[in-house]
Amino acid sequence: MLYLESLYSKNANNMKKSVIRELLKLTQQPEIISFAGGLPDPDTFPVQDLQAAADLVFAKQARSALQYGTTEGDNELKAELIKFEERQGVRLSPDNMIIVSASQQALDMIPKIFLDPGDYIIAERPTYVGAIQAVQSYQGRMLGVPSSRDGDGFDMEELERRYLRAKNEGLSVKYIYVIPDFQNPSGVCWSLAKRKALLEFAYKHDLLVVEDAPYREIRFLGTPIPSLYQLDQEGENRSIIIGMKTFSKILAPGLRVGWVIARPEIIQKLVVAKQAVDLCTNVFSQKWLAEYLKTGKIYGVIAHTCELYRDKRDFMCDMLEKHMPRRSDITWTKPEGGLFLWLSLPSFIDTDEMIHKAVAEKVAYVVGSAFYFDEPEHNAMRINFSYSSKVQIEEGVRRLAKVVKAEIVAHETGRTAVAAPTGV
Ligand SMILES: Cc1ncc(COP(=O)(O)O)c(C=O)c1O
Repeated sequence: MLYLESLYSKNANNMKKSVIRELLKLTQQPEIISFAGGLPDPDTFPVQDLQAAADLVFAKQARSALQYGTTEGDNELKAELIKFEERQGVRLSPDNMIIVSASQQALDMIPKIFLDPGDYIIAERPTYVGAIQAVQSYQGRMLGVPSSRDGDGFDMEELERRYLRAKNEGLSVKYIYVIPDFQNPSGVCWSLAKRKALLEFAYKHDLLVVEDAPYREIRFLGTPIPSLYQLDQEGENRSIIIGMKTFSKILAPGLRVGWVIARPEIIQKLVVAKQAVDLCTNVFSQKWLAEYLKTGKIYGVIAHTCELYRDKRDFMCDMLEKHMPRRSDITWTKPEGGLFLWLSLPSFIDTDEMIHKAVAEKVAYVVGSAFYFDEPEHNAMRINFSYSSKVQIEEGVRRLAKVVKAEIVAHETGRTAVAAPTGV
């Protein structure tokens, strides 16, 4: 019999299914209230304006929109994105940019061009599961650095300690991967001081920094903090940042379009990597987006999205306050932006085991352990507040709290946790 494992490459045998995508399948059942995915609220999609932009593409340039395009990306879209970035203080020229099939593609291409098997990257602990998956698929490894107690970015002493130990052991560390704005999963937003400290660290040790920023514009409280890309540009301008952006959270994830900004040599390497993957990003989507961006309406969409998500975040926090048992070891973050809360539970609760009980209660979350490359923490979860309606948030939190209460009672009485029937 054909034994496939011996035929698959080491890379393929190293690939692991995404816990989130597997969970998403499970939670497609309509009666489940899912806080698991990172889905935007579809009410934020500007359907009519996008339809008008698509009509214009068909009317004006159907033939080129249906043709192959360049791997670097559509020039008109790049021009619009350069204006978009300029409003945030980032200066770019077209050769600083490649259009990608959303940022997950960049997350795959960056380790592809930098990592040999066994090479390391430095990342936050916890970090985005899709980044872990991509690095693992190239047999790369991660050095995890925890956040500081203030929750404002890396614990810099730990970073220094872990990095120097790795260097002393002769390990090859290639780049630092961070999500400084409303991190997935923790919601942490890096302070200005931490951003500057990270840049200094990277300069000192000749490291590149990959700044993944899908949630940067989804800030609903506080004032924006300059991106690492911007800080480098305004300071020593050593071009050590690779910035990743996407339309997925600010417009619509179904478009599957994102962009990477970096120094031209890196962009050129990414172009070669992308040629082997998909030749070019969906040409129609790019022209469609260029037409839409010309209307300037995206800024209104982002403002409306932020308002909606602030309201939902507040509501979810209120519901957690109302329904969760009051204990000092049950806490959740209150991020100033993004799509997620990070909920920590008593150390005796294993959210990997509890997920089955939660799904039986018809509520879902992503287990915290999915966001660790190694030595996972088992008593946390990521919950999304952007997708569900308020009615679903209230009911979902109620169900979740009930499962948590049952775990606590079981721990205290030594019995197996069974949540009482909900009747809903
Ligand atoms: C931190 C981070 N990076 C990248 C992605 C991938 O996004 P997309 O491929 O839709 O642009 C996500 C999606 O949720 C994310 O949270």
